[in-house]
Amino acid sequence: MATQLYDFGMIGLGVMGSNFLLNMADHGFKVIGFDKDLAKGQAFEKAATAGTTVKSVTALEDMVQQLSSPRRIMMLVPAGKPVDDVIESLIPILNEGDIIIDGGNSHFTDTLRRVNYLQTKGLRFVGMGVSGGEEGARKGPSIMPGGDKTAYPHIQPMLESVAAKVNGEPCVAHLGNAGAGHYVKMVHNGIEYAIMEQISEIYELLKWGGNLTNEEMYEVFKKWNEGDLHSFLVEITRDIFLQKDEDGTFLLDKILDKAGAKGTGKWTSQDALDLGIPIPSIDQAVTMRNISSNKNFRVNAAALYGTHRKLLTINKEDLIQQAHDALLFGVIIAYTQGLSMIAKASEDLQMEIPMDKVVSVWRGGCIIRSSLLTVFSKVYSAQPDTENILSTQEIAELIKPILLTTRTILATAIANGYASGSLFASLSYFDAFTCAEMPTNMVQAQRDYFGAHTYQRKDKEGTFHTHWNA
Ligand code: 6PG
Repeated sequence: MATQLYDFGMIGLGVMGSNFLLNMADHGFKVIGFDKDLAKGQAFEKAATAGTTVKSVTALEDMVQQLSSPRRIMMLVPAGKPVDDVIESLIPILNEGDIIIDGGNSHFTDTLRRVNYLQTKGLRFVGMGVSGGEEGARKGPSIMPGGDKTAYPHIQPMLESVAAKVNGEPCVAHLGNAGAGHYVKMVHNGIEYAIMEQISEIYELLKWGGNLTNEEMYEVFKKWNEGDLHSFLVEITRDIFLQKDEDGTFLLDKILDKAGAKGTGKWTSQDALDLGIPIPSIDQAVTMRNISSNKNFRVNAAALYGTHRKLLTINKEDLIQQAHDALLFGVIIAYTQGLSMIAKASEDLQMEIPMDKVVSVWRGGCIIRSSLLTVFSKVYSAQPDTENILSTQEIAELIKPILLTTRTILATAIANGYASGSLFASLSYFDAFTCAEMPTNMVQAQRDYFGAHTYQRKDKEGTFHTHWNA
C-alpha cells in the first residue's frame, strides 16, 4: 500500500510549483505534485534529478492519500477564487491538523479570512510569500511564511532546505501570525515596483539625457553592481542592456513602453493609505505604470504640448556619478517606506512581525535582495522596534554623502522635462520627514477657518478655535 509515503505535496505543477518541488526533492525530501494537466505532471517528473523521489498525479485524492501526517500541502495557483476553490476541494479529504500552504501572491486579508475559516475546520493554514521567480524556486527562493505558528515546525526543515542561503543562513523565517507572510510579500513587491521604476528613471536620464549607448549603460550598471548598489535588480538591468533580438539588434529598444502589473504594488499603496503610512516612492511607481499604459494618449499629448526631454549639458562622468547617487538614495528611501509600513501594520493588525527577520529573509533569493539589506539587518538587530530607519545613525551615514548630488541631478531632471516620479517622491519624502517645521500650520488654519476643525498651538497647551475674519 502506497499510503504515507511522501513528505510534501504541491497543487499546481506550473513552472513555479514544479521548480519548488524539484528543489525540495534535490534536498532529499519525497515530493508529490498534483495537476489536472497530465502533460505538466509528466514534464515535472522528467525534470527531476536522478535518484530523487518525485511523483505526479492527476487526482487530488491520490496525492492526499500518499502524504505522511500531518499532511503538508502547498498550492501555487492564481490568487483569488482559485485558492478558495482548492481549499474547498481539500477540506473534505484532509484530517484534523493537516497543513495547507498558499504560496501565491494572495491578498493578506484573504489569508486572514482563510486562517480563521480553516481553524473552524480543524485545519492549519499558512499564507506564504515566495519570491525569486522561476529560477529562485528551483535554486533557492526567499520564503515568507506566516499564519498558524503550530504548523511551522512541521514545514520548517523543508523550507529551510529549499530556501536561498546567505552566509549559510536560510532565507526563510516565520514572519508573524494571521496574514503576515502575505503582508510582507505584498510590501516586498511594492518595494520591487519602486526600485524597478527608479532604475527605469535613471535609464531615461542616461539614455536621453546623456546619450549613453546600451553598451555604455551595461558598463555603468556593471560597475554599480560591484559597489554599494549591488543587487539582483541592478544585475539583471545590466544584462538586459546587452540582450540582442534575433536580428542582432538590441531587444530593449524594441520593447513597447507599456508596463503591466498584477496588482501587488497597488495593494501596497491602498493599504498604506489605510494605515496612514506614507510610501510615495511606491505610489509613484504604481502611478507611472498606469500612465505608461496610456500609450496613444501620451503620443498625442506629446504632439499637442510639444514636450520633449532635453539632452543634458553635464559631462558624462558627472552624470553617471549623480545618477548613481540618486538611485542609491531612491532605493534606500523605497526600503525605508516599505519597512516602516510593515512595522506599523504589524502593530495595528497585531501580526507580530519580527522586522529583523524580514530584512534577513530578504537578503537572498528574492527580487529585492541587495547588499543594503545587510545594513538594515544590523539596524533592526540592534533596535528591533525602530519605526522608521530614517531616524537611525546607520541610514544617516548612507544618505548624507549622496544628498547634494541627488538634489543636483533631480533638479536637472525637472528643468529638462524628465518625469522621474519615484525619485522625486523619494526626495520629497526625505525633505518632509527631516523638516522640523513643516508649512502644515497653514493647513490647520484653513481647516479651522472653513470647518471649525480646531488646531493646537506652539506656545500653549490645549485645543483652539478662532472666529476667522469675524
Ligand atoms: C517575486 C515577484 C513575483 C512576480 C511579481 C510581478 O517576488 O518573485 O514579485 O511575485 O513576478 O508579482 O508583479 P507584477 O506583474 O505586478 O509586476
